[in-house]
Amino acid sequence: MSTLPVYLYGNEILKKKAKPVSEITDGEIELIKDMFDTMHTANGIGLAANQVGELKQILVIDISDMEAGKGIKPLVVINPEILSESDEESEYEEGCLSIPDVREKVWRPEKITLKYCDINMKEVNLEADGILARVLQHEIDHLNGILFLDHLTGTKRTLLRGKLSKISKGEIETQYDVVAPKKLKPKKKK
Ligand code: NI
Repeated sequence: MSTLPVYLYGNEILKKKAKPVSEITDGEIELIKDMFDTMHTANGIGLAANQVGELKQILVIDISDMEAGKGIKPLVVINPEILSESDEESEYEEGCLSIPDVREKVWRPEKITLKYCDINMKEVNLEADGILARVLQHEIDHLNGILFLDHLTGTKRTLLRGKLSKISKGEIETQYDVVAPKKLKPKKKK
């Protein structure tokens, strides 16, 4: 198991749609293990494959350390599809490992139902609410090339312009390895 560098805001891969996974090979198993390792090392609660440079519809979630996520086991979600969303929405402050040090409140449906494949490619139907629904929606967005910033108003995004420009140049300190868009090589932490 090893950590992977996280692609920062400004990398084209974060705007691309991930492709469905047709089978789980040793390569996918390794990717999933590395994604958990990367997420845990970076103190994240969710990570999508795009963020580590793979256009595969795979995401991992671990909210078990959060008060609101107690008792919810770490999840591997493959080829997710949201089937329904509640009309009721809630607001929650989100962050993203690809957009370090930026946190903004985002409105999203409070409940969703989805289907996805587990690590054995067995189809699972899930009804989620609260923090689990929140993280699932954020990560499924990633697989569709969407960032939480895309849900903000123009005014809020304008206010973040300076910060985002710095991130996209890699002018930011992180506790984990990153890939800045203007550099082709992963930037190793010192
Ligand atoms: Ni994110």
